Amino acid sequence: MNLDINRIRRDFPILEQQVYGKTLVYLDNGATTQKPNVVIDKICEMYRKYNANIHRGVHYLSEKSTQFYEESRQTVAHFINASSNKEIIFTKGTTDSVNLIAHAFGDRFLKKGDQVLVTALEHHANLVPWQMICQKTGAELKIIPINEKGEILQDKYRELLSDRCKILSLTHVSNSLGTIVPIKEMIAQAHAYHIPVLVDAAQSVQHIPVDVQELDCEFLAFSGHKIYGPTGIGVLYGKTEWLEKLPPYQGGGDMIDDVEYQKSTYAEIPLKFEAGTSNYVDAIALAEAIKYISNIGLKNIAAHEQEILRYATEQMLKIEGLKIIGTAAQKASAISFTLKNVHNLDAGMILDKMGIAVRTGHHCAQPLMKKLGITGTIRVSFAIYNTKDEVDVLISALQKLKQMFN
Ligand code: ALA
Repeated sequence: MNLDINRIRRDFPILEQQVYGKTLVYLDNGATTQKPNVVIDKICEMYRKYNANIHRGVHYLSEKSTQFYEESRQTVAHFINASSNKEIIFTKGTTDSVNLIAHAFGDRFLKKGDQVLVTALEHHANLVPWQMICQKTGAELKIIPINEKGEILQDKYRELLSDRCKILSLTHVSNSLGTIVPIKEMIAQAHAYHIPVLVDAAQSVQHIPVDVQELDCEFLAFSGHKIYGPTGIGVLYGKTEWLEKLPPYQGGGDMIDDVEYQKSTYAEIPLKFEAGTSNYVDAIALAEAIKYISNIGLKNIAAHEQEILRYATEQMLKIEGLKIIGTAAQKASAISFTLKNVHNLDAGMILDKMGIAVRTGHHCAQPLMKKLGITGTIRVSFAIYNTKDEVDVLISALQKLKQMFN
């Protein structure tokens, strides 16, 4: 199916503007995506017509917002093919979801001598929480190494698997290099040792169809704002049996069954993990974002973005002195690169003045940058609304940049 990208672009009001007198070319989608009108309108509609705290009131507005919130849970469950709505927990985002699992799992199951496995590709959200829980429990954090292309070394991964390893937490798509990790095969290998797996899908659910039952992962996390939804909302998927055996992560209203001054019993999942007033407005708007991209079709989105990725890679390789960092055989959406004699920060600031938004620096993946022997890169990351014309604008800006510095 050929998508009408110009029509899609018209759904995103922010893209119509000029910055510094130049047409905006937004290529920082790995950091956050722009929002379509349906999402913006839904947030306004909720506050204008339906706002009331969920799960608490017997009045009309509370019943409406509760109904919309629970329908949103259903939309998310359907989107990633969870077997039950109970397996969907709304969180603040990927970081919050990973912290929830690291702490709940760690408190119950980790002890000195155990191991936690992550990959060398992880961004801080899927690394620092594990460091913290390992420090607390005495477990050891093991890192699965990568090759110079940014691909996981599968033989080294297999060597690291053992009965000592209690959980594997790995990214589906690297935020800084764009590598697509073969998670399905890796999950199956972990399961041979009865190791549960958490998938960080922050950079994948917006680009690749994700089916948690097909992957057979125990947990999966993603953020609303990277999938055309609002900030401050995210998702944690967990298999029912696992969510039931994990202790709650935070205490407060909505996650309880019965409370006495000295002790409490807890609500069933998913509410056991949703302490306090949930961010119901943004959860409801996230469901709009999911419906929006589901209408376009994830397979169509993937095909369009792969075409942009292929074209941009091809054009960038023609620029002398430009080095692409991360050349895995399977990539999604992002290209990281360095330019000879140009510091990535200078490049970012000058591109900005040309109307082009990119991300520069370590991309919240400092250990990976150190491993690659660089302080940072310039990263362009694509979304459904990006076009080949925008890639052409980027390429000619990079040519100008090169001339300025050489
Ligand atoms: N993790 C986000 C990024 O890759 C912020 O830019």
